[in-house]
Amino acid sequence: MTDEFPRPMIELTIDDVPVRVPAGSTLLDAARLAGPDVPVLCYSDHTHANGLCRLCVVEVAGRRGLYAACVTEAQAGMVVHTRSPNVVRARRTILEMLDASVDLSESPELQALLHEYEAEPARFVGAELRQPPLLDDNPFYVRDYAKCVLCWRCVQVCAEDAQFTFALNFGQRGFHTQIDTFFGRPMTETTCVFCGQCVGTCPTGALRGKREFLLAQGVPAGEVLALTRRRKDKKKG
Ligand code: FES
Repeated sequence: MTDEFPRPMIELTIDDVPVRVPAGSTLLDAARLAGPDVPVLCYSDHTHANGLCRLCVVEVAGRRGLYAACVTEAQAGMVVHTRSPNVVRARRTILEMLDASVDLSESPELQALLHEYEAEPARFVGAELRQPPLLDDNPFYVRDYAKCVLCWRCVQVCAEDAQFTFALNFGQRGFHTQIDTFFGRPMTETTCVFCGQCVGTCPTGALRGKREFLLAQGVPAGEVLALTRRRKDKKKG
């Protein structure tokens, strides 16, 4: 989409590369233009940025702390470092903490980042693994929140970013916080229309199509088809 009134351009430096972006761009936009690959988790190209996971942090010369690139506005003259030792250490620690408490085995992107940043989840030995029970309450998908990193993307696509059905939100508190339905009702008793967009945006396999899930469990394809058809018919009835 083009701006009705073109925005003025500003210039900044990303990893020693001068880059010009329209005013109002984020540091992530600028970094993508300059070339460096800044990892993202809670942000996707189809959801608004919330700055939740902090995997995209970068360092800005002359400023304290690290900035989440997906929500920080680029300013003229900024000198940004996307791979400084502080940045790499912060990303590695976030990845280690995630891997110490969440099952990331079904997330190829996070597995690749763990490898790239030489993360050692064993540093947090003794960390408690989140292990809520798998929720299988509808014919279309299962919810395995032991694999959920609380990135919020499923909530966003269910709400203003795509579907406007608002079936999902945060539930519980503290360590037990997880994505939930209102009053923890089964999915079939919520406003969910089973569009599948939450499953599509989930980066960790916490949400999986029922057929894919059953096949991965070793259920023969013929049985999976019969089973899921029966469940859909039952729901219609
Ligand atoms: Fe920027 Fe998560 S991607 S904070």
